[in-house]
Amino acid sequence: MCGIVGYIGKNQALPILLDGLKRLEYRGYDSSGVAVKTADGVFSVKAVGRIVELEKKINSPNPSLEGGQINLDSRLRGNDKGNLLKGVNAGANTGIAHTRWATHGAPTEANAHPQTDCQGKIWLAHNGIIENYQELKIRLIAKGHKFTSQTDTEVIAHLLEDLYDGDLSRALIKVLKILKGAYGLALFHSDEPNKLFAAKFGSPLVLGLADGEIIVASDVSAIIRYTKQVIYLKDGEIAEISGQDFKIFDADNKQVNKNIDQIEWDSEAAEKGGWPHFMLKEIFEQPKSIANSIRGRYVAEAGRAKLGGLESAAERIRGIKKIIIASCGTARLAGLVGKYMIEEYAGIPCEVDYAHEFRYRKAILDGETALIAVSQSGETADTLAAVREAKEKGCLTLGIVNVVGSSIARATEAGVYSHSGPEIAVASTKAFTSQVAILCLLTVMFGRQRQMSLATGQRIISELASLPDKIKQVLALNDELKRIAEKYYQFKNFAFLGRKYNHPVAFEGALKLKEISYIHAEGFAAGELKHGPIAMIDENFPSFYIAPVDSVYEKNYSNMQEIKARGGKIIAITTAGDEKIKEVADEVIYIPKTLEMLTPILTAVPSQLFAYHMAMLNGRDVDKPRNLAKSVTVE
Ligand code: M6R
Repeated sequence: MCGIVGYIGKNQALPILLDGLKRLEYRGYDSSGVAVKTADGVFSVKAVGRIVELEKKINSPNPSLEGGQINLDSRLRGNDKGNLLKGVNAGANTGIAHTRWATHGAPTEANAHPQTDCQGKIWLAHNGIIENYQELKIRLIAKGHKFTSQTDTEVIAHLLEDLYDGDLSRALIKVLKILKGAYGLALFHSDEPNKLFAAKFGSPLVLGLADGEIIVASDVSAIIRYTKQVIYLKDGEIAEISGQDFKIFDADNKQVNKNIDQIEWDSEAAEKGGWPHFMLKEIFEQPKSIANSIRGRYVAEAGRAKLGGLESAAERIRGIKKIIIASCGTARLAGLVGKYMIEEYAGIPCEVDYAHEFRYRKAILDGETALIAVSQSGETADTLAAVREAKEKGCLTLGIVNVVGSSIARATEAGVYSHSGPEIAVASTKAFTSQVAILCLLTVMFGRQRQMSLATGQRIISELASLPDKIKQVLALNDELKRIAEKYYQFKNFAFLGRKYNHPVAFEGALKLKEISYIHAEGFAAGELKHGPIAMIDENFPSFYIAPVDSVYEKNYSNMQEIKARGGKIIAITTAGDEKIKEVADEVIYIPKTLEMLTPILTAVPSQLFAYHMAMLNGRDVDKPRNLAKSVTVE
């Protein structure tokens, strides 16, 4: 949640900070702010709402500092409005910016970051939560500090002020020892020229090393336009940056040498490229993202999966007796599909936990248990906490993560990157199908080490490899889904139903619809319907029923009859060739035939498109739905 950008280097800071903020806006978007060091002091602007509101304020006729026209960085020309930035003197080459998802204090200008100290000299942007901020605030107020916000963040600025002796890095080391909680920090002192600092504990922070400039950001989306060379800070590390030089210190203040990593994503992949929304682009990218997820990861003739990221844990994997999948939201629902696969084909007992509940139940764990953390962002605080808990209890921890180098990728002992490419829309789509594809490969790997025959392995692999083409066939139904949405977009309630492999897809379809259209939608394992929920069904409560022709089709068909008998409308997803369903369903969407275990990858796509069109027809902000943020880095 929240996004940080910091800049120091040869170019004007402000345009690069604003560009970075726009790219991070999906992480949190209730307010934002910038602070840039200028020859005359610090230029800071904050605004409530989207980044566009901040731009309007910066562009307003009465900026807080007067000065010459800023030179736009040549990389930003063409895409961004040229006349964005009046009022900041040339030479303002250091700054920080933040886009906020409120935790402590409402989304107001006072609570937006950057926050500062009493004298307005120390400026900082913070992600995470300072858990002991209240006691610190009381102490600081008693010492005469004046607070202007309700944030936990502001205590950091005042603490730094309190301990400052002319060197911000010395004060920072002392302050970080006092703080409890999580932080990603970018900060500067107005009296220390050409210096920017960054610090991390429990909240991600990356340094992008470009030619003569360094960008600090909470994720690489703000960086890839400028450089692909990055350094991921570890918990406890502090970076002292001046132009193109930097030093990194660990928690004991010892200088550390860091590896420079190469980002694999290209900048176009994180841009809309002509699509009206990231969500639609990402839905349509699924043939490619699935192909990328599975490429080079199987040997078809041997019916085997080849997952290089797991080799370091190969011995322990062979001995696993139980699997726990821990994750949240859409990633958990991918995990639920994985449970059905793993138990049916690999014969290993598998539980799926909400990562945020995992710590509270006394799960029976040992060295023969593997915890698989599934996460698109790799930064979900609850999932990360589950990994740490499982590790402490001696479990093998594995990750299925999309973002390379993310916290969960680093915290797990081994893992498989899902390689779905950057997912920017808050609603997760292509990440889900890739996660299911990886879980299928894991199933083949576990299964072939145990009970799965060569023929079964070959059949699963060959079907998996055919999915990109089959997804293309489902995407061709986009207009049909739009037509259905036009008929249904004014309904206020929906039930999403499915059984076995598609019961998680029913939950996922409901989650997609509610999070981007704000229409009430509930997912049910269809067998549950007659145990209560059917009481809600009438002509105003339609059902989105996922019923491919599989081992539970007949049961689903009976449930559809029951809905029909109560006047309920049905939008059904089934397998090509099934004519019978037309007797009960009002609308039918056909997916191509595939193995039962792989149907979720195909049935998820129409539910994503349906949610997208429903949200559009209801005039929603599809990519940035209210109250949400892309990565949930607070518990
Ligand atoms: O980054 P993660 O996969 O760990 O995120 C987990 C959930 O927060 C995420 O899937 C969320 O539910 C999405 N908004 C759903 O579309």
